[in-house]
Amino acid sequence: MIKRRDFIHSAALLSSSLVLPKLSLAAQSQNTLAIPERLDGLAGPSGLRYPLTLREGSMQFLPGKRTSTFGISRDYLGPTLFLRRGNNVEMAVENTLNEQTTLHWHGLHVPAAADGGPAQIIDPGSTWRPSFEVQQRAGTFWYHSHLLHKTGEQVYRGLAGMIVIEDDESKKLALPQNYGVDDIPVLVQDRRFNDDGSLSYLQSHRDVMMGMYGDTILVNGCLNPVFRPTTRRLRMRLLNAANARTFTFAFDDQRDFALIASDGGFLEAPYQCKSVVLAPSERAEIIVEIVDQRPFKLISLPLDSNSPFAMRGMMGRMHSGNESRFDILKIEPQLTLEDSPDIPAALNQIPRMDPNDAVITRRLELTMAMGMGMMRRRQGSDASFFINGQAMNMNRIDYRVKKDTTEIWEVVNDTMMMHPFHIHHSQFQILDRNGVAPAAEERGLKDTVKIGPGETVRFIMRFENFSDTEIPYMYHCHILEHEDNGMMGQFTVE
Ligand code: C2O
Ligand code: CU
Ligand code: CU
Repeated sequence: MIKRRDFIHSAALLSSSLVLPKLSLAAQSQNTLAIPERLDGLAGPSGLRYPLTLREGSMQFLPGKRTSTFGISRDYLGPTLFLRRGNNVEMAVENTLNEQTTLHWHGLHVPAAADGGPAQIIDPGSTWRPSFEVQQRAGTFWYHSHLLHKTGEQVYRGLAGMIVIEDDESKKLALPQNYGVDDIPVLVQDRRFNDDGSLSYLQSHRDVMMGMYGDTILVNGCLNPVFRPTTRRLRMRLLNAANARTFTFAFDDQRDFALIASDGGFLEAPYQCKSVVLAPSERAEIIVEIVDQRPFKLISLPLDSNSPFAMRGMMGRMHSGNESRFDILKIEPQLTLEDSPDIPAALNQIPRMDPNDAVITRRLELTMAMGMGMMRRRQGSDASFFINGQAMNMNRIDYRVKKDTTEIWEVVNDTMMMHPFHIHHSQFQILDRNGVAPAAEERGLKDTVKIGPGETVRFIMRFENFSDTEIPYMYHCHILEHEDNGMMGQFTVE
C-alpha cells in the first residue's frame, strides 16, 4: 500500500521538472550533421583489429560552452564500426578513463566472454581484447558501456557508437549504401545541461523512475543538425541511443517512407509508413524519397495517449516527456540530385521459428516500486525495479538455458509505463502482443521489444553456437536507469 503522504510526495517530485525539448522553441543556428568516421578494421594475425580507446573528452555542444564528456577514440561517442559477416574480428578496447567500464556489442551474436556485459570489466589502464566471428546478418547495431549500476551515466557521458554489419546479400541489394552520403547514421539522444555547459544527470527521483530525459536533442553528438543530401533517396539508420526517451520518428510534411530494417536486419519486404516508434536501443532503417529542393525535417511526434506505450495513471498525468513534438534533423536537398536505385520489392527471407519447437516458456514479470519503494531508495538502500520480484544480482544466475534449444519468453509488464525489454545472445521473433500477432514493423528480427503497461509479449528465440557454464548473458529493460536500478537478470547457455 502506498501511503497518501508518499503519494503526494512522489507526485510533487514528478511535476517539479516537466521536460519539454528546448530545440523546437528556440531559433538557433544550424550545424552540419557530424558523420562519425567509419572504422573498417586493420589487418591483423587473427583477423581484423578494431582499436578503440575509451577516453575523456570535451565538446562544444552549446554555443560558447564546453562540456566534459567521454568518448571512444573521439571526444564524444565512437566511430561507426563496419563489420562484414564471416570475418574474424578482434576488438582492442583500451580504457584510459579513471574508472572501470565495459563495452557491449548490442544485438551481436557472440560468445558470452566476448559480450562485454557487466562481468567483463575493463579496469583503468587496461585493454580488453575479445575476438569473435561476425555471424550476424546485415543490419544496424550499436555498442555501449554496460557497467553494473553505471551504464546510464557512462552512456549519457558518451560511451556509445554505431555498428553496421554488411554481408554478401546486403551488398547485392540495390539500396543506398554510400556511408555518409546516401546512407547515414542517425544516432539520436536527449541530454540536459547545467548553466555552465556540463551535463546534468539524475537530479531527482523522477529521473530514476521515468529514466533520464533531456530537453536538448543531439544527433551523432550534434546540436540543431542539418544534412544536405545529394541523391534522390536517402537511407537513414535510426538508432534510439537515448537513456529513456521514446521517439516517434516522422517527417514534418507527413511524407511517407519505406521501413526496410528493424533491430536484427532487413524486413522481408519494405513497408511504407508515415511514422515509426523507437524505444531506447531500437533501430530502424528507413529510405526517404527526395522529390524536390524543398527542405524538410525529421521530427518526433507526440506519443498518442491512446498508444499502448503511453504512460498510465498517475505517471501518465504527470509526465510530459513523450508528449511533445520536436525537431530531430533538418534535411536540405542540394540543387542537383543524383538518381538512386528503386527500392527492391524483396529484401530478405526470415524463416519463422516454430512455437512447437520450444522446450520451455519462461514467464518474466516486470514490476517497479512506487511511493514507499522509491522513498526507501532515496535513503540509499533498495532497488526500485524488478523482474519476477528480484533485482539484478551478479552472484545469481536466473536461468540456465540448454544450448541448441528454442525457448519462448513471455514478458508481462505489471507497471504503469512502457519498458523496452532487451535480451543478449541472439535476435528473436515476436510471437504475439496480448495474443495478437505483431504488425509489419515488428515482424522482422528483434533484440529489443516495447512492452506497454499491462501488456504481455511473447517472443521466440534459439540459443545456438556458444556455451559457457559460468559467464552469463543479460536481459534487461533498456531504459538505462531501470537497468541500473535492478531491472536486469542473467542467463547462461550451457
Ligand atoms: Cu544495449 Cu544489455 O544492452
Ligand atoms: Cu545488448
Ligand atoms: Cu524499464
